[in-house]
Amino acid sequence: MTYTDLAAEAVRQKPVFGEHAHILCDNLVRIFKTDGVEVVALQGLDLLIDRGELVAVVGASGSGKSTLLNILSGLDVPTAGLARVAGTDLLTMSGRDRLKYRRETVGFIWQQTARNLIPYLSSLENIRLPMRFAGKRDRKRPAELLDMLGVAHCADRRPAQMSGGEQQRVAIAVALANEPQVILADEPTGELDTETSAEVFGALRRAGSEFGVTVVIVTHDPQVSEQVDRTIGIRDGRTSSETLRRVGDSGTVIAEEYAVLDRVGRLQLPRNFTSALNLERRVRLELERDHIGVWPDRPREEDNE
Ligand SMILES: Nc1ncnc2c1ncn2[C@@H]1O[C@H](COP(=O)(O)OP(=O)(O)O)[C@@H](O)[C@H]1O
Ligand SMILES: [Mg+2]
Repeated sequence: MTYTDLAAEAVRQKPVFGEHAHILCDNLVRIFKTDGVEVVALQGLDLLIDRGELVAVVGASGSGKSTLLNILSGLDVPTAGLARVAGTDLLTMSGRDRLKYRRETVGFIWQQTARNLIPYLSSLENIRLPMRFAGKRDRKRPAELLDMLGVAHCADRRPAQMSGGEQQRVAIAVALANEPQVILADEPTGELDTETSAEVFGALRRAGSEFGVTVVIVTHDPQVSEQVDRTIGIRDGRTSSETLRRVGDSGTVIAEEYAVLDRVGRLQLPRNFTSALNLERRVRLELERDHIGVWPDRPREEDNE
């Protein structure tokens, strides 16, 4: 092999970051400027989600969840970085592409039940409306969606004639109207009690499994991890941890927590770990054969002896 062959081979083998991901955010930054003050809502967020995954992004209020969803839904444009959903580059798409993207590629569910549905239209009419905007005619789909989500009895009711949970399930049907590839939900159960929330999560899960849609839910409620395949923690505008759910040998559900390691090797230590050992500002690292040790930056005891 010549040098040129080797170089060509190296280029060929180099994996492109997130090449096969359905949703990809790479070093995403969103800075808001108000009255001369800058707020960095997203500071280099990385995110990879596969097609058909059901993922929750969990973080405290102000951690950047809505900012992230607004970007993924095509409502807002990031300041820097890369964001790609279903093959669409969200930073460079044209105005016309943006409209089509929002109408056909993604479906959106907001926290405020009232914001999802038009108050003077019935459930069926609410589902038909986005279909008409997209020039789609499918007489059976609206009723089939309501049936699948367990709200067939709400077909002719207006939002005010339904419970909060029923309204959110109809909202999921509206979001699914144009066969989107991705469903984005911002605190969809924020105004609901636990039992009704579980029904709404069940509906989102069914949407994912029936249509192979990728579902991303953001919430401040850590309990949601019991309802999804993967929970991604977001802290200060950056993804910091992941919890994977898997079924163990005895049939019990095991949740394992991981820290996210970004492309340049940065890692966020959980706050309860750093405060337990009083770690601050600087730590000492030691490479071991099969792990890395992280130590407080204090003189080692053997040094004092
Ligand atoms: N339009 C905006 N203008 C200025 N600051 C904003 C705007 N939207 C969000 N922020 C700020 O960005 C940060 C993240 O907000 P947000 O994404 O709404 O968080 P979350 O949804 O996790 O509660 C907060 O500090 C918030 O005040
Ligand atoms: Mg929010």
